Amino acid sequence: MRWPKPRAPTLSTPLTSRIEDTRAEALAALQAARSAADLEKVRVEYLGRAQGRIRDLLAALKGLPAAQRPEAGARINALKEALAAALAGRAAELGRAEGPGARALADLTQPGLARPVGHLHVITQTLEALTEVFGALGFSAVEGPEVETERHNFDALNIPKDHPARDSFDTFFLNCGLLLRSHTSPAQVRVMEAQSPPVRVIVPGRVYRPDAVDATHFYCFHQCEGLMIDEGVSFADLRAVLAMAMEGVLGPGTRTRFRPSYFPFTEPSAEVDVSCLFCQGSGCKVCKHSGWVELLGAGLVNPAVLEAVGYDAERYTGFAFGIGVERLAMFRYGINDIRLFLENDLRFLEQF
Ligand code: FA5
Repeated sequence: MRWPKPRAPTLSTPLTSRIEDTRAEALAALQAARSAADLEKVRVEYLGRAQGRIRDLLAALKGLPAAQRPEAGARINALKEALAAALAGRAAELGRAEGPGARALADLTQPGLARPVGHLHVITQTLEALTEVFGALGFSAVEGPEVETERHNFDALNIPKDHPARDSFDTFFLNCGLLLRSHTSPAQVRVMEAQSPPVRVIVPGRVYRPDAVDATHFYCFHQCEGLMIDEGVSFADLRAVLAMAMEGVLGPGTRTRFRPSYFPFTEPSAEVDVSCLFCQGSGCKVCKHSGWVELLGAGLVNPAVLEAVGYDAERYTGFAFGIGVERLAMFRYGINDIRLFLENDLRFLEQF
């Protein structure tokens, strides 16, 4: 019997595993590469003529028995070609996928890049807080037009032509006989024209005034009007509703204070202050050391206004108020300049 000719021993295990380890590491490094510079580093590390790891593998052939060298050499050359092809493929991928897509191509299992998402403007957040708090007190939110008639902005609110109070509510007049509303109070008139009592609404919205701009005044700002009409509504109801609402918006413990004032459309009228959030009433820069901050005007609806819309002023009474929303937001968040709201500076907006 003839024994089969002994075959040359197969490639020794240590060099085989070095070749395969090198392949795995090189491919991982290629996948991790994000730029042409990264790729060049990988090329030098693996395929570099002077010190590349493929060159090291070829050098290690010398240590093998002569019979094993051809097969080992062939494997190393195959690896060299495979890596050169993979390098070219990755370079093409990175070239195609510029910007954020390059990352997705590099590793399809990675989570996507988060898109920067905005959020509600601090004034919108304040309007939403007001809507929520007054909603809980039974007030529904309605809207009124920003372009108004003279009748709604002035006359029906008991501010006839040539009345000195026209100056306080002066506005931008349009060529067509209309105007930009200078307060949200005209919406009171519109609501009452459209429905009979009982009424319980708030009207948040934008208003315009030709005021000189400074840290607390702007020519375009927001107000939140409130109106409640029913039989037997009194000043006590106004006080209770505003006290609860201010606590709701500014936090428990906030106190309200009413000071006599004048508005043609309310009688009696008041300016309403809230206790300073920052010093709890002891006096600080925000409240100009008074312990109080003025936020709104209010009063019982003047019977002349009820009559102007055809309500029975003998039977119905009501209260109204108008909150300056920018002033409320400034106070709520400790913002010291109204102009910041409109500068669109993300460093400011992202804080709220
Ligand atoms: C009014 O506008 C009345 N319509 C409020 C009212 C409604 C009273 C219902 C009675 C019944 P006044 O002009 O005071 O009132 O403005 C109300 C609030 O708007 C002010 O307290 C202030 O917070 C804010 N405000 C007024 N002018 C400006 C301005 N130029 N920039 C920013 N906020 C302002």
